[in-house]
Amino acid sequence: MSIKILSVVGARPNFMKIAAVCEAIREYNASSKPLLIDHVLVHTGQHYDTNMSDMFFNDLELPTPNLFLGVGSGSHSIQTAKIMEGFEKVLLAEKPDMVIVVGDVNSTVACALVTKKTCWTTQTERDFIPKLVHVEAGLRSFDRTMPEEVNRIVTDALSDVLFTTEESANENLKREGVSEDKIHFVGNVMIDTLLRYRTKAKESTILKDLQLYDNDGPKPYAILTLHRPANVDDHGTLSKMLDAFLQISRDLPLVFPAHPRTLKQIQEADLGDYFVDHFLDRPEPWDSRVRIRLLPPLGYLDFLELMSLAQVVLTDSGGIQEETTILGVPCITLRDNTERPVTLTHGTNVLVGSDCKKIIEEFGRVVQGQRQTPPAPQLWDGNAARRIIRTLVEEETRSVGLPLPSGAETILGIDSQHPD
Ligand code: UD1
Repeated sequence: MSIKILSVVGARPNFMKIAAVCEAIREYNASSKPLLIDHVLVHTGQHYDTNMSDMFFNDLELPTPNLFLGVGSGSHSIQTAKIMEGFEKVLLAEKPDMVIVVGDVNSTVACALVTKKTCWTTQTERDFIPKLVHVEAGLRSFDRTMPEEVNRIVTDALSDVLFTTEESANENLKREGVSEDKIHFVGNVMIDTLLRYRTKAKESTILKDLQLYDNDGPKPYAILTLHRPANVDDHGTLSKMLDAFLQISRDLPLVFPAHPRTLKQIQEADLGDYFVDHFLDRPEPWDSRVRIRLLPPLGYLDFLELMSLAQVVLTDSGGIQEETTILGVPCITLRDNTERPVTLTHGTNVLVGSDCKKIIEEFGRVVQGQRQTPPAPQLWDGNAARRIIRTLVEEETRSVGLPLPSGAETILGIDSQHPD
């Protein structure tokens, strides 16, 4: 017997999350169970550039997607609608038992909606709607102007099984009326992937390539990532923030792998003077001018290595707040809120928003202060995806009336750490 699971990826932050799920499924199937998992991977094509998508498949040894929808960019409505149209055809052709969506991007909400609106008749003449599984459920910024917050709320409201990364998510879901038996606190799949690839990332030559390494080892530097519409789409906000970053780059080299959205805004607003341009074939030696060091988006392993050895990371990303927490690297978040409060209470994260003065003050405090290495948040231990697969197999086994696969917990090796 087998369960058919269809997983969805679309945008960059999905790839490292699904990589952990793919690995847990591979491991589960390799230990020959009565109930095997037939896994289908669907890529919506929301992100399509080599350095926003393909590089992650290579670095994370992800299987080639079984299906590619090729939706590309567009307004939120157009992109969501295109994904829905393509994904409905996939569901009707594949007829999975369940669909796994991760995170909070447009691909997540679009495929969640389609999953719960598509019905077919089974061989036993039953009407069947697949189970919707949300990995990284329950996070809330309480800011509905963020597209991701809308995606999170809708996806969670529709999901049958909700896997959470931190206690705040459990509380948010319960407050919104999600029944407790649907919520499973399992830890963080993104951290599973980080822990799995940390050693391999050491082989990256990125520091040498960027002249950030000499005979004494890594030189001090900071990293910047910036792509939220609230920070980059308004040219006034963007240029004020760049003033702060330029000032920071006088104290520490500031490496900035830029998201395509941000790059487009920099070009449109003619803000090139802030940067040493490493898109050029022969970049100027960095020491000759103090400027922010602009790079194309980096692959997973290069970015992980760069982040691991940085003095500080400035970012408006959600995932990087979590990764720096585990790496013990100070993180200055360029937002007023976070949907990941455990990174503030148990991690290295501090919120400063987009205010130039606050950014510079916090940067000064961090580089002069002692580095903290707080203990990892609960269950961020590399086993989240195993817990997810175990829970799904158990639920499915129960629902089809099979006995639990013998030894499943021992084989998965996680029983002692499971919080349920
Ligand atoms: C999306 C997610 C965001 C996530 C981010 C990570 C939503 C609502 N937002 O934002 O949560 O943090 O991905 O990267 O889903 N572009 C390219 N090449 C690509 C992809 C995008 O050039 O491969 C450009 C296009 O001009 C596009 C723009 O980036 O219009 C924005 O892409 P989109 O997928 O709409 O949103 P992101 O800003 O990437």
